[in-house]
Amino acid sequence: MSETLERWHSRRAFILAVTGAAVGLGNIWRFPYMTGENGGSAFLLLYILFVVVLGLPMMMAEILIGRAGRRSPMQALAYLASEAGVSPHWRWVGLFGALTVFFILSFYSVVSGWSIEYLVDSVNGGFVDRTPAEIGSAFDTFLADPLRMTFNHTLFMLLTMSVVAAGVSNGLEKLNNVMMPLLYVILIVLGGYAVTTAGFGAAMAWLFTPNPAAIDLHVVLNAMGHAFFTLAVGACALMAYGAYMPDEQSLPRAVCAVALLDIAVALLSGIAIFSVVFTHGLDPTEGPGLMFVTLPIAFSELPGGQIWLGAFFLLLLVATWTSSINLAEPMVAMLIGAGWRRGRAALLIGALVWGVGLLSVLSFSTLADVHWIGEMNFFALVSTVPPDIFLPIGGLLIAIFAAWRMLPEAAASALGAPATGFRLWRGVVRYVSIPLTAVVLLSSLI
Ligand code: PHE
Ligand code: NA
Repeated sequence: MSETLERWHSRRAFILAVTGAAVGLGNIWRFPYMTGENGGSAFLLLYILFVVVLGLPMMMAEILIGRAGRRSPMQALAYLASEAGVSPHWRWVGLFGALTVFFILSFYSVVSGWSIEYLVDSVNGGFVDRTPAEIGSAFDTFLADPLRMTFNHTLFMLLTMSVVAAGVSNGLEKLNNVMMPLLYVILIVLGGYAVTTAGFGAAMAWLFTPNPAAIDLHVVLNAMGHAFFTLAVGACALMAYGAYMPDEQSLPRAVCAVALLDIAVALLSGIAIFSVVFTHGLDPTEGPGLMFVTLPIAFSELPGGQIWLGAFFLLLLVATWTSSINLAEPMVAMLIGAGWRRGRAALLIGALVWGVGLLSVLSFSTLADVHWIGEMNFFALVSTVPPDIFLPIGGLLIAIFAAWRMLPEAAASALGAPATGFRLWRGVVRYVSIPLTAVVLLSSLI
């Protein structure tokens, strides 16, 4: 056990940190547009199902490895593998996770940069008295401007890496404590506004009336990937946080609280966004721009809308910030494990991610029609393949290790649940989560 490792200051701090990682663009930006592109209620239903049967148990698997190993992901895996007398190669799962978050962070930072732009715009009154059509075309103009996008992306990477360089638990706890609850308040206000719009009924019907006919393999794969993405599972990023978890805390309880909140935030923003879509006859399959077009319209109709809009983008920025810190941590932890100093590791990782992010920036202008795989430009590629395929593969390996390879006693004590709870968890992971993830992955790769 390493004595130098920091601990979260309390159970609440751990839950807040994991919530900070989980709640982000996945809920507010990605969930609505994925739902729009994947047939509405069909996607929503599958996503909730996957969160419960895959996301939750695998999130426990991932965090308990970190907690049992009390080291950075690769070292924890190596340590637990040797303790159990299994292959040392399990540690490469940590490297695969670092690779996954590398690509995710590269586009995550670019999109978070969009909220910086919108924060500044709304403070400057840029959305006052604009028609929905004008709001839509302003977004397109912004996307076509690589310099503005690069500026925001750079700013966001600096924000992220400066906290990472300072060490996670220092900066993060305080930020989380204040800002996350405020974000929920604004989302609830937005939900209240949605109820009053003409499109509310249509949005609810579209989101919640079962539509099994819309389900196909593509929708299933996307919903599964999104469940991993939104919970931040499968990249060893939460594993890194598990290493800082207090000894006496119950992991299942903490994880359930986080997942409930994560679903609630997604549903609230989905309801708000689709109410606007159906009120104004917008296109639900609009794609990654959906949130940036609908929410300024929504807020412009609220009394004091400019203030709400500015506050919303500020809090969204904080939410994406806490997620991006979590995305960066496993890579930095890996270098620290290899003997690097934290500050240097953060600098190198930040620079590399920033550079690859430029390809996403340019995907909206000069590189828009450069296709890497099939019809996908770079942004389309990194915003789908790492979340929808790499995360489930990582989650699968993590789950196999935790439920089949680790010493059962080590897993049980890191889970922090009574013996029956441990057996239930292990049964679900072994016979439901692992086979289901494998089947969905294999059938869509074939
Ligand atoms: N869960 C984050 C979100 O919803 C994204 C994320 C994915 C964070 C993977 C860490 C690891 O925005
Ligand atoms: Na999320």
